[in-house]
Order: sequence, then structure tokens, then C-alpha cells
Amino acid sequence: MSDVIILNASPRKNGNTEILCKECADALESNGIRTEIISFTGCEFTSCKACGYCGKHGKCSIDDGLNDIIAKIREASGLVVASPVYFGTARGDLMSAIQRISMVSYGGDRFLSKMVGGPIAVGRRGGQTAALQELLMFYFINDMIVVGSDYWNMAFGRDKGEVADDEEGVRTVRKFGENIALVIKSLNG
Ligand SMILES: Cc1cc2nc3c(=O)[nH]c(=O)nc-3n(C[C@H](O)[C@H](O)[C@H](O)COP(=O)(O)O)c2cc1C
Repeated sequence: MSDVIILNASPRKNGNTEILCKECADALESNGIRTEIISFTGCEFTSCKACGYCGKHGKCSIDDGLNDIIAKIREASGLVVASPVYFGTARGDLMSAIQRISMVSYGGDRFLSKMVGGPIAVGRRGGQTAALQELLMFYFINDMIVVGSDYWNMAFGRDKGEVADDEEGVRTVRKFGENIALVIKSLNG
């Protein structure tokens, strides 16, 4: 069981989103919070089918691995979602995943309620703020506690590894991780 789950929505192994997830996780772990990064590499998450199955069974009817992720989120205190920017918005698979996670929670036992976290976005040149705004909709409707940093949780990089050169972006994400740890520890006495 981990205190914080970080969803890395990039399909690329060793990509820029992964680097930021690891920085966030390292900041959390350094502050005593057990963290697990779940990668979307090799996964395909389709959109909610509006079938209503989750309202009766507490899990999604689509058998693509998302229920395993939901089971881990249920046990955690925090949830971070990290996405590469695709055409000015968050990656589609992440939007599909968080909409389905929302449906399971919202129409059921509201396991997302009071979870601590926020989004991270990385892109080559533009769209990070739009992606962050889009992802924040997930947090705010689900009664979650969103944590800030010194700047928005965004960074720049195109080719794998480039984001490591964005010192301010990395620093912002690390501070975000530290703040999540602070809030989780404050809430849990
Ligand atoms: C389909 C696609 C669309 C993209 N659209 C944008 C974009 O709108 N703005 C941007 O700055 N970068 C865009 N990029 C670049 C990625 O956001 C960038 O390479 C990012 O670092 C990828 O993260 P990753 O290494 O974790 O996969 C796009 C990349 C792909 C594959």
C-alpha cells in the first residue's frame, strides 16, 4: 500500500513525464510518504461507456487494467496525475482514465473525497496551462484537496530526458511533492 499514487500518462518509457514523476516521488519519499508511480506504457484506456455498471458493482465494466489502478488509489491518501501535452491538452488516455475513475468514485463510495494531490504537465512548447486546467476539473468535482507550488506544475522538454534541463520546472514539481507530503501529514495528525 502506498500513501500517494502518481499516474504517469505518457506512453514513452524513460520520457519526460517519467522524469517529473520520479522527482515528485523522490520529494514525497524524502518527506516520509510512500509513493508508487504507475506508468501508462503499454496500456490503452478507452472512454467511459456510460453503462452504469460501476454504480452497482463499485468497479468499471471495461477490462483493461484500470480496476487494478482504482484498487490502489482506494488505499492511498494522495493522487497525482502527470501528462505530456498533446495538441494543447492532456493525453486522451489520461482523460479517459480519470473520467472512469471519477464515475466509479462519484456514483459509489466517493473514495476520491479528501485525497490530496494535483496535476503535472510537460510539453515541448505550449499547452501546459490548458492541460493543467483541464486536469484540475477532475480534482475539484471529486472533493479532492489540491496542493500548489511556487509556480504551476509544468515543465518544458521534447525529446526524452530534455526536461531534466528545465531546472525551474523540476524545482516546481519537487516543491509540489513536498507540499503534498506536508498536507497529508497535517491531515493525519
Ligand atoms: C501527439 C503529440 C502531440 C503533441 N502536442 C504538443 C503540444 O501541443 N504542445 C507541446 O508543447 N508539445 C507537444 N508534444 C510534445 C510532447 O508534449 C513532449 O515531447 C513531451 O515531453 C512528451 O513527454 P514524454 O516524454 O513523457 O512522452 C506533442 C507530442 C505528441 C506525440
